[in-house]
Amino acid sequence: MKKMTCFAHRGASGHEPENTLLAIQKAIELGAEWIEIDVFPVENELVVIHDDLLDRTTNGKGSVLQSSLKYLRSLDAGKGEQIPYLNEVFDAIGSRAKLNIELKWIDTAERVVRMIKRYIDHHGWTYDRILVSSLFFDEVKKAKLLQPKILTAPVFLGPPPSDFIQTAKDLDAYSLTMDVDYINSAIVEQAHQMGLKVFVFTVNTAEDIEKMKNIGTDGVFTNYPELLSMQIPS
Ligand code: G3P
Ligand code: MG
Repeated sequence: MKKMTCFAHRGASGHEPENTLLAIQKAIELGAEWIEIDVFPVENELVVIHDDLLDRTTNGKGSVLQSSLKYLRSLDAGKGEQIPYLNEVFDAIGSRAKLNIELKWIDTAERVVRMIKRYIDHHGWTYDRILVSSLFFDEVKKAKLLQPKILTAPVFLGPPPSDFIQTAKDLDAYSLTMDVDYINSAIVEQAHQMGLKVFVFTVNTAEDIEKMKNIGTDGVFTNYPELLSMQIPS
């Protein structure tokens, strides 16, 4: 059985405030191969935060999309950290890990693709180190159409629809991002037969990681990347 791929979910969010540069730094220290973060488009920037409301993860209030950048950057996202911009995440990672950018809103793909191009053209990034994913399949599709070399993944929250394989094939996706509560070996097998990798969120115990390994998934999103660093290839 091969070693499973580790995606540090919102960075090493079990240890540091989620979606902050501290969480990203910690994920790298803990040996995560991939770092997953969430982005929203605000004014002319891409901001890294999970919820569409500020209240849970910052000392601010209200809607992310309706806030000014000035306000967003004045907030504490935990331990005194600012809400990062996507370019700061690219810079913080450098050559030390791969990056999964989850698009949390519509009209985000084009800007993200532009930024990816910049980091590939000028900062040593390569297409195999970036994965663009979203619950918004139109955004996934747009990213792929704008730059076919970009690896993409639809995110399925809850039970996958019966046509999930067709959806992924239509998107020309690299992988599927699947909900841990609705994954099973039949789904994994179907995906593998079509050449799709299966990555599962969110898996935070050694026991569940073992389960995911046993049903053949290719990797997991976890708040605790050290759980994957400890795995012994068998
Ligand atoms: O992309 C995997 C996972 O991050 C999807 O769920 O809600 O944590 O962004 P969520
Ligand atoms: Mg996410």
